Amino acid sequence: MALSGKRILLIISGGIAAYKSLDLIRRLRECGASVRPVMTKGAQEFVTPLAVGALAADHVFTDLFSRQDEQDVGHIRLARDCDLVLIAPATADLMAKMANGFADDLASTVLLATDRPVLAAPAMNPKMWSHAATKRNFDVLKGDGIRFVGPMTGEMAESKEAGIGRMAEPLEIVFAAEALLDDGPKPLAGRMAIVTSGPTHEPIDPVRYIANRSSGRQGHAIAAALAKLGADVALICGPVSIADPVGVRTIHVERAEEMRDAVLAALPADIAVMVAAVADWRVASAADQKIKKHPGESIPTLALTENPDILKAVGHHTMRPTLVIGFAAETQDVENNAKAKLERKGADLIVANDVSPATGVMGGTRNSVKLISRSGVEQWPDLGKEEVAEKLAALIAERFRQG
Ligand SMILES: Cc1cc2nc3c(=O)[nH]c(=O)nc-3n(C[C@H](O)[C@H](O)[C@H](O)COP(=O)(O)O)c2cc1C
Repeated sequence: MALSGKRILLIISGGIAAYKSLDLIRRLRECGASVRPVMTKGAQEFVTPLAVGALAADHVFTDLFSRQDEQDVGHIRLARDCDLVLIAPATADLMAKMANGFADDLASTVLLATDRPVLAAPAMNPKMWSHAATKRNFDVLKGDGIRFVGPMTGEMAESKEAGIGRMAEPLEIVFAAEALLDDGPKPLAGRMAIVTSGPTHEPIDPVRYIANRSSGRQGHAIAAALAKLGADVALICGPVSIADPVGVRTIHVERAEEMRDAVLAALPADIAVMVAAVADWRVASAADQKIKKHPGESIPTLALTENPDILKAVGHHTMRPTLVIGFAAETQDVENNAKAKLERKGADLIVANDVSPATGVMGGTRNSVKLISRSGVEQWPDLGKEEVAEKLAALIAERFRQG
């Protein structure tokens, strides 16, 4: 809804992910936004202005010194007659230009001349992304108020290389644009929320770890939904391959102990929603070097030790948030297990979901949850994880409204 009637100036720069911009245009228009494309010279090596213009149903602007375009619209109007400037993909080169205030082509000039919010979806080779120069530019741009979605971890389209640098998926970019343009009511303005999300990775040795199938989708959606209602959200997440939600402070951790430390460091807060699938146990003493397989030697056994119980630590903390919500991932006797958890952990509400493999909840996009509180049990229908998040955020806002 936030995108309906909104005018988006889409800058496409010259990366291989430019092919995904075609799908992005389609999805933005499906949401009711209009898309006016600007393409760099590099972008035109990857997708044609003809295809971009056909999908956007608008003229494609490519040239700073086009007498016709400058007469019709002009680069200053192009920079201002929009609600959002979206750069997808954002190349290392364009980020460098922006960070240094260059204006030597239409895209960079528009970016320097705009007074509209700017959202960038970087996409590049992992080595380019981790280069000190790109890191520097990224920090400068964040400081300048540019918002980012991605990049993501995964395999590169053009090579066998994997790592961080993939452009966020078109739908993730759409969600990020929606979050940025949302001007709905903010009942949670002034409230601080801590949300945990994703799995934890517990090392066995430097290359192996114990993990679980959590994707982070539910926790990330809850963080985004709370931010949409105006909360100041700290999202503490384990290793996931989805984008950080826009408008949320995201802290990345690996292990349960790191997650506990980050959560406690984020206190005080009004709201805690502990969604992460934290490993109950870790290897008692992870090996410093890779454990080698030697012919004839016995198979190693793993001695486990208990991980910190983060929900319990928050639920019984001297700075306990007003509202503490835990998630219970169960494969049997969901309701009774969740009720016991409510008491044990000092939580106000447990959101219980059945994560048996047949439900497809873990790693999937849908969730069917039961809300267990001291006043009873409420079953919600099967919903998308974003819908669960929105309903839960609305319920949290209602609790605070009632005081
Ligand atoms: C096949 C190929 C793929 C490329 N992919 C990327 C990419 O994904 N990200 C990036 O930052 N640069 C990429 N580049 C390099 C850019 O195209 C180059 O830096 C160019 O100057 C960017 O121009 P622009 O930022 O004005 O669009 C690629 C180059 C080639 C030849």
